Amino acid sequence: MARIIGGIGTTHVPAIGKAIADGKQNDPYWKPFFSGFDAVHKWLAREQPDVAVVFSNDHGLNFFLDKLPTFAVGAANEYRNEDEGWGIPVSKTAQGNADLSWHMINGLVEDGFDITMCQEMLVDHAITIPLQLIWPNGDWPPIVPISINTVQHPLPSMARCLELGRSVGRALASYPRDIKVLVIGTGGLSHQLDGERAGFINKEFDTHCMDQLTADPEALTRYSIPQVVELAGAQGVEFLNWMAMRGALTGTASEVHRNYHIPISNTAAATLVLENRPRAEKRKAA
Ligand SMILES: [Fe+2]
Repeated sequence: MARIIGGIGTTHVPAIGKAIADGKQNDPYWKPFFSGFDAVHKWLAREQPDVAVVFSNDHGLNFFLDKLPTFAVGAANEYRNEDEGWGIPVSKTAQGNADLSWHMINGLVEDGFDITMCQEMLVDHAITIPLQLIWPNGDWPPIVPISINTVQHPLPSMARCLELGRSVGRALASYPRDIKVLVIGTGGLSHQLDGERAGFINKEFDTHCMDQLTADPEALTRYSIPQVVELAGAQGVEFLNWMAMRGALTGTASEVHRNYHIPISNTAAATLVLENRPRAEKRKAA
């Protein structure tokens, strides 16, 4: 069966892609952010995942306001990127794993998630930038992209996204092939791009969310979407992708690494690595 090795939460702002393209990782502005990935790379060199399940939100490359599924799962063997107009190079194509996708789709539908199935799907900067950050050499594994609507209200709730992740975790646990899976949630943390509160950042709430994500993710479900908008900013709701990532860690999650840096392009940039240990293994170790 598939083994979920852990989860990574990371921001995905387009300016990071430009910094990578321009080789600015060691510039004073960027270094505190990029150096936060050194520990991620060391952890992954040890863990060596075969597949990455990526929760993210589409920014109009694939879905727009006219048609926007609440949850959409990729079921392709490759996912192309296209120019989104940010001035960053078009990324190489990400490989998929359609067999695993269909297994997860079946599990999600059995669990009552009426997802959209996408045998063709483009991936935008919310996936390509995290892949470049996590695997800077470009040797990223096949992915299964899962898109969550964080754009067109009404959005799914924090609880629903946590449950979505749990359903993915159950599906992975029943996948018959012996593979190691990394789960990634992208976006956030607190930020607001427009309106009177443009530039809004809330370090205290971000820290609370990261703390609770490990210790008690259920506690975060008490926040309604309007409350998340109030506390994290209009685009801070991308934290829903992190909630889903956490839900998929069906064992015991423990924090391996955290980096938090303000600002990156008006955004609170955070990186979090959670290790997922099977519950039985923990009991044995104890
Ligand atoms: Fe975004």
